[in-house]
Amino acid sequence: MTDPRILVLGTGGTIAGRAASSTGKAYAAGEVPLDTMLGEIRALGLEAELLPKAVARIGSQDIGWTEWDALHREITVAQDDTGVDGIIVTHGTDTAEETAYLLDLTLAAGKPVVLVGAMRPADAVGSDGMRNFANAVRVAGDPNAAGRGVMVVMGDTVFAAADVRKAATASVDAFRGFPRGPLARVTPSSLDWFAPPHRTAQPPRFAWPEALPRVAILTAGAGMDSKPVEALLGIGCKGIVIAGMGQGNAPRVVLDALEAAVDAGVPVVRSSRVDEGMVDRNVEVDDDARGFVAARALGPAKARILLMVLIANGVTDPAAIQAAFDQP
Ligand code: SIN
Repeated sequence: MTDPRILVLGTGGTIAGRAASSTGKAYAAGEVPLDTMLGEIRALGLEAELLPKAVARIGSQDIGWTEWDALHREITVAQDDTGVDGIIVTHGTDTAEETAYLLDLTLAAGKPVVLVGAMRPADAVGSDGMRNFANAVRVAGDPNAAGRGVMVVMGDTVFAAADVRKAATASVDAFRGFPRGPLARVTPSSLDWFAPPHRTAQPPRFAWPEALPRVAILTAGAGMDSKPVEALLGIGCKGIVIAGMGQGNAPRVVLDALEAAVDAGVPVVRSSRVDEGMVDRNVEVDDDARGFVAARALGPAKARILLMVLIANGVTDPAAIQAAFDQP
C-alpha cells in the first residue's frame, strides 16, 4: 500500500510558535516556517507524503477573511485533486473552532479535512505539537475519516467541527465536544471511530460568499444598560449574537434594545456565556414575541460564524435563521 498524500496548509499558531524560555513564557505564535516544521516532522518517519503550502504565519487571533478565503479555495481544489488523499490545516487553537466550523458549513464532506494545533510552543518543554500533528496525519490518511466533514484533532482526540470548542486556556487537554463528544480517539497503535459520520449531507450546506458581514458578539453582564446594543447598531452591525446569562438571558432593557434591533431588520441570536449547554426557544425569554433566534447547542463564537454565513447567503428572516440553528 502506498503512503497517503496529505496537503498541509500552514497558518501559524502555537504549533509553529517559538518561546523565549523553556516554559513557553513570552512566546510568539507562527514563528516557525511550515517547511522547517515539516522537516522535523518528516524525521519522525510518519507513513505519509506531506505536501506543504503556507497560507499564513500568524496567531489565530488575527485570522480573518483573507486566510479563510485562501483556505476554502485551496481545500476545494484539493478535494478534486486525485493526487491528494487528505488535508491538514495547522492553526492556532484560540479560533480553531471558528475556522473549522466556517469551513465545515461551506465545503463538501469529501476527503478528510483536519485542523490541528498545539497548546505549547514548538520549543517549550513538553510541547504537544509534534504529537498532535502525528495524530492528524493518521486521521487525514484514514479512509474512515472521509465524509465526516471538517474535524479538529487535539490531545489524542478527534472532534467534529460543529461540536468542538476550546474549554481551557492553557492545558494540553483543552478541547471538548458538545453536544456530541469525540468522534474518535488516537492511541499509539489504533485510531478508533465511535460514531458514524455526523454530517448528514455531502454537498456544502451553504455557498462560499464573496464577503462576510459585520456580526458582533455582545456579552451580557449584571447591571448593563442598552447603550452597547445601540453602539453596535451605530457601527452598522448586520447581526448580533448575545452571549447571555444562563440560558441566554439578559437584563430587560438589553432585551428591549435587542428587540428594537430585530424590528430594524438586524437578526439577534441568543447564545450563552456559560461554557456548555443548550439555549432553547421560549424557555425564559419569549423568542416568539421578540423575534429572537435561539442558538441551541452553539456557543457564541460558532453562533456568530453561522449567522455571518446565513446573512451572506441572503438569509435574514428569523424563522429561516432558526431553522438553520436547529439543524445539528
Ligand atoms: C493562536 O491561537 O494562534 C495562539 C494560541 C494557540 O495556538 O494555542
